Amino acid sequence: MVAVEVVDLRKSYGAVEAVRGISLSVAEGEVFALLGPNGAGKTTTVEILEGFRRRDSGDVSVLGFDPAHGDRKLKEQLGIVLQTSGVDPYLTVAETVDMFRGYYPKPRPRDEVLELVGLTEKADSRVTKLSGGQQRRLDVAIALAGDPRLLFLDEPTTGFDPSARRNAWEVIKGLAGLGKTIFLTSHSMDEVQYLADRVVIIAAGKVVAEGTPDTLAGREKAAAIVRFQMPENAVLPGGLGLVARIDDGIVRLETGDPTRTLYELTSWAVQSDIELGGLEVTRPSLEDVYLEITKNVAGSETKE
Ligand SMILES: Nc1ncnc2c1ncn2[C@@H]1O[C@H](COP(=O)(O)OP(=O)(O)OP(=O)(O)O)[C@@H](O)[C@H]1O
Ligand SMILES: [Mg+2]
Repeated sequence: MVAVEVVDLRKSYGAVEAVRGISLSVAEGEVFALLGPNGAGKTTTVEILEGFRRRDSGDVSVLGFDPAHGDRKLKEQLGIVLQTSGVDPYLTVAETVDMFRGYYPKPRPRDEVLELVGLTEKADSRVTKLSGGQQRRLDVAIALAGDPRLLFLDEPTTGFDPSARRNAWEVIKGLAGLGKTIFLTSHSMDEVQYLADRVVIIAAGKVVAEGTPDTLAGREKAAAIVRFQMPENAVLPGGLGLVARIDDGIVRLETGDPTRTLYELTSWAVQSDIELGGLEVTRPSLEDVYLEITKNVAGSETKE
């Protein structure tokens, strides 16, 4: 079943065309990531799907509902982490979670929610007393409170320390394992690589690429890069015939046939009794591909 379907979505704020004809679809049970530079239109798109903003045109279906109609039956099935949270700072963590649990027909037990995000010890602290990362965890807790079928997470782990981030990833993986659908935005390519089944990249309000994290833009077929330290007093075998570059004593070979290249390189090294320090083979990371795809899109911002 399709959880989210968007066809030719458009939204302007005055003269700013934030979303310019986006189409995408998310299958139920999928972890889907919407990526793009600052100002690309991610939050606008997500908040239209959540029912918080009005679209100008286009067709939108979320769990079979049009979010613009504000149906209670839809809201009951959604969990939401907004990019900027609006939690009452004078409530305690427990009170906040309970308040949101109260909006849902079958909420998760409060202790379980706090445990999932690692806030058990802070249950009685006021929100104002939480650190930035702890407040963000509370945002995630709120999204989980109703045991939702579909979760919208707009940059959910911004400000998390590395261990909290890992923990959040495990929580999200766990929810996906239960068959929940996750609609994520993120600027962390590690996060997307780890979590997402499928990715759509938007820039300046339009879709510019789509695929899985491993195959986006032909990543899996891209040339491999072999690197190693230039051995002292050695001359590289000419037969490698590759695009070799030496920077700061590091040799960099680009090859479409890494198996053969490594065979030739290491055979030569072993026979010549040469150690290839720091030898590694890499492919372009998701971040490399992402930067390449988004760098030349007119009107897309690349920094805050
Ligand atoms: N309420 C608003 N009023 C006017 N313009 C807005 C409003 N919200 C967003 N915009 C503009 O719409 C464009 C898209 O913004 P949006 O917040 O959707 O981007 P984003 O992809 O979520 O960016 P980020 O990565 O920084 O969160 C930007 O040019 C932004 O300035
Ligand atoms: Mg945003």
